[in-house]
Amino acid sequence: MQIQNVGFILILRTFESLNFVKMHIHHIETRPSILNHFIAQVRDCSVQTDRMRFRRNLERIAEILGYEMSKYLEYREQTVTTPLGEKKVPMLARDMVICSILRAGLPFHNGLLNYFDHAENAFISAYRHHTGTKDEFEILVEYLSAPSLENKTLLLADPMLATGQSFVSVYESLKKLGTPAEVHILAVIGARPGIALLEKHFPPETHLWIAAIDDTLNDKGYIVPGLGDAGDLAYGNKLQH
Ligand code: URA
Repeated sequence: MQIQNVGFILILRTFESLNFVKMHIHHIETRPSILNHFIAQVRDCSVQTDRMRFRRNLERIAEILGYEMSKYLEYREQTVTTPLGEKKVPMLARDMVICSILRAGLPFHNGLLNYFDHAENAFISAYRHHTGTKDEFEILVEYLSAPSLENKTLLLADPMLATGQSFVSVYESLKKLGTPAEVHILAVIGARPGIALLEKHFPPETHLWIAAIDDTLNDKGYIVPGLGDAGDLAYGNKLQH
């Protein structure tokens, strides 16, 4: 029995090192639901002009992704006392940290916090610093405010998973804060090349909760058809630097 286990672990490790064991990708829009209305609204130019609706839709999508994700978390029975008696109920077993990438992550963060109101919070900035005259850029991480992540459930949230470089840079910066027991990445729209990058850089047991998936990126690293610049749509245009 033990020998079989060792053999199984060896096979698993070999598959992992060959990158055959992939991240768990949960593509939520594939089963049509009210979620599709919210995704349609964040994409639709004629609806995007209403910034409050745009922010609220990011929040609503985060709530749905968070709920779907909650079905995969670990629970422990606890007893609650009602006015008439006691009842055992499953409650989340692990401490949780929601880490959002500024600034488009803010409404998304609120949506997750609406459901996981007991969670601790982390904020990190990641922005595209254009390095030359072409459309090349590097991701700069400058601001980080976070608690320890040791043995906790880490939720990494950013509505747009474009090249995937922001998520990878952010994850690298968070490593000094401890090793989370599990990592869940949440995004509204993901581009296939960005998802492929995450699969290379995140541990295979990572879960990706993605509302919608688009095929491509344009020369500037924007998702096509995507929705445009989520930060600008939520909070207004910025000066380029
Ligand atoms: N960030 C956005 O806001 N939109 C994209 O398409 C890519 C990155």
